[in-house]
Amino acid sequence: MLHFPVLLEESIGFLVDNKSGSFLDCTFGRGGHSKSILNTITDQGELTAFDKDPDAIEYANNSIKDPRFKIIHKSFNEIDSTFKARSLDGILFDLGTCSTHFDDKSRGFSFQDTGPLDMRFNFNTGYPVSEWINTTNEKDLVDVLFKYGQEKNARSIAKAICISRKESSIETTSQLADIIVSVSSKKYTKIHPATKSFQAFRIFINNELEELEQALEKSKQLIKIGGKIVVISFHSLEDSIVKNSFKTKIQAFPKEIPINPIITKEFKCIARKIRPSSDEISKNKRSRSAIMRVFKKLP
Ligand SMILES: C[S@@+](CC[C@H](N)C(=O)[O-])C[C@H]1O[C@@H](n2cnc3c(N)ncnc32)[C@H](O)[C@@H]1O
Repeated sequence: MLHFPVLLEESIGFLVDNKSGSFLDCTFGRGGHSKSILNTITDQGELTAFDKDPDAIEYANNSIKDPRFKIIHKSFNEIDSTFKARSLDGILFDLGTCSTHFDDKSRGFSFQDTGPLDMRFNFNTGYPVSEWINTTNEKDLVDVLFKYGQEKNARSIAKAICISRKESSIETTSQLADIIVSVSSKKYTKIHPATKSFQAFRIFINNELEELEQALEKSKQLIKIGGKIVVISFHSLEDSIVKNSFKTKIQAFPKEIPINPIITKEFKCIARKIRPSSDEISKNKRSRSAIMRVFKKLP
């Protein structure tokens, strides 16, 4: 299946004001947003894209031959190694996974197919999630399932994993999915019982939320005055990090110091909770959980 870029017109509409400016796509994926930025900017404009995934880098190198475009194989929490402070007119984040991740069984993201239990965006570094699942203690399993999957059944799932791995190590996506299904209540109807656990393990092994927090802080330094940061999130954990990162900072003083609190407002939220239209959702089911927020850097 192809990857359909989510909220494409809306995000590029906010992102590109100065058509001869410098832009950064932090999550290239299959280049849906990058290609649209390149189609919108002038010959003087430029676009750099980042992605952690070697397959995305290969795709970019093969599919975009444009002197205004550069692709970098790094995590977006390293964007400050490429740009100077206040040098970018627009920064885009389209978070999470691409449809292509789920289509390729060998990547281990999907519980619908059997594949090695890997789940890393960058498979050239670190270790597959199976290594951690087979060796960590039960408490850490519970914590990850609660924290990153908001999985109510975390304790039973962690226990079942620990029992099962004593018999044989858990190496495939379907082994893990079967263990989760075996301890799930029959009440689950809407979503597959393994959905939240797979999300939790993916977020954990890729250090997704910490890297997002770091990248947003760095983006705030790199964006020019008047420039915009556009973020498309796919679940509430990501969205709250985005919302909190741009909250107005209030520095309060102890009562005995007669100074009013200092309010620092660096960014204005110019669009909050933008969601895909019903038309987009009917064409691309994956877009249904998307939420977009847009922040403009104030003088
Ligand atoms: C939803 S896809 C982006 C899709 C893209 N906008 C498009 O239209 O094709 C998210 C991409 O972000 C990448 N990614 C996830 N975390 C990352 C990180 N910390 N640094 C860089 N890329 C990351 C994933 O590998 C994936 O390719």
